[in-house]
Amino acid sequence: MKQAFEQYKKFPPSRYMGSKNKIIKELYNVFSNLKFDTALDLFSGSSSVSYLLKSMEKKVISNDYLFFSSNISKSIIENSKYKLNKKDIKNLLSRPKKYNQFVQNKFKGIFYSKSENDFIDAIRHNIKKINNPYKRSLALAALTKACQKKQSRGIFTFKGKRYDDGRADLKKSFEQQFLEAIEIFNNAVFSNKKKNLSLSRDFSKVNNKCDLVYIDPPYYSKYSDNEYVRRYHFIEGLVRDWKGVKIQEKSIVKKFKKYPSMFDTKQGSYDAITLLIKKYSKQIVVMSYSSNSLPTLKEINTIAKEFKRKFKAIKINYTYSFGTQKKLNKMKNQIKEYIIILS
Ligand SMILES: C[S@@+](CC[C@H](N)C(=O)[O-])C[C@H]1O[C@@H](n2cnc3c(N)ncnc32)[C@H](O)[C@@H]1O
Repeated sequence: MKQAFEQYKKFPPSRYMGSKNKIIKELYNVFSNLKFDTALDLFSGSSSVSYLLKSMEKKVISNDYLFFSSNISKSIIENSKYKLNKKDIKNLLSRPKKYNQFVQNKFKGIFYSKSENDFIDAIRHNIKKINNPYKRSLALAALTKACQKKQSRGIFTFKGKRYDDGRADLKKSFEQQFLEAIEIFNNAVFSNKKKNLSLSRDFSKVNNKCDLVYIDPPYYSKYSDNEYVRRYHFIEGLVRDWKGVKIQEKSIVKKFKKYPSMFDTKQGSYDAITLLIKKYSKQIVVMSYSSNSLPTLKEINTIAKEFKRKFKAIKINYTYSFGTQKKLNKMKNQIKEYIIILS
């Protein structure tokens, strides 16, 4: 345990919505009591659980349909040896003579100042020049992290400096944030002597072999929205170079349309959970679940029974740190977080 946690301490801290960083010890306890070699983290988000599993010396397959998320898992889960060295960093910070000014033009006056947008464009240009895909993913992960640090609350749903509480992160320069992020990501790279993999697909299109699947989807809830693209569109666009998305020009923050997911609707969520329990009926299934979402715990139990699975739910003490304060206070004592195990 000690060794896995020593390594886990190097996981790049993240404020990703729904990150399981907060319950990582509980997840560790669950995983360490199960017998498996290959784990599939189907909705990997910040990569926190993938990183735990990698630290536990499992072969890990990470998947998330956000390019921004799968870029993180490429940089610290699939990548087991490449780091950005001094020369790479010098090249990244060099001023190109000519470069595409996409962020400067499209996002003028929205999130950052003129010189900050210029910095982002220059770094984007330099990142494209890196040949090694793992080094490229590290540089991109560091740039997206710097962008989040320079944006209050780390989300891109509002224009200007709303919520600017003058905290240290916002005062540091973009370059400083970028350099600090490079160090954090470099430091997180390690080998667990397994061939780990990062994917970016809709969950229904992942068919890789595994003994255990970890399922942490954006459950449907009546009380909060589960939209990731709306919150993270700027860094998602940055990672995919805004290729294949259509910016909604009328939106104040220049977002693009969310990616369709079965979890968008109540019926879709019931169908998705049924599909997943059926598809992984021969594997160990570990699911994270919160009591304000649908299907209910009882309904998941009923679906599990249909496929002859043994159902166990462990209740843990945890409250969400996202959502509006008013909503949060009202719900704080009502939301219960569970880890479900089907075997
Ligand atoms: C609750 S978060 C996962 C958090 C993650 N376990 C962590 O610790 O950071 C749910 C994730 O599911 C992803 N997602 C939503 N719909 C998806 C789909 N249809 N296919 C693949 N990923 C999807 C979202 O992008 C989001 O990152």
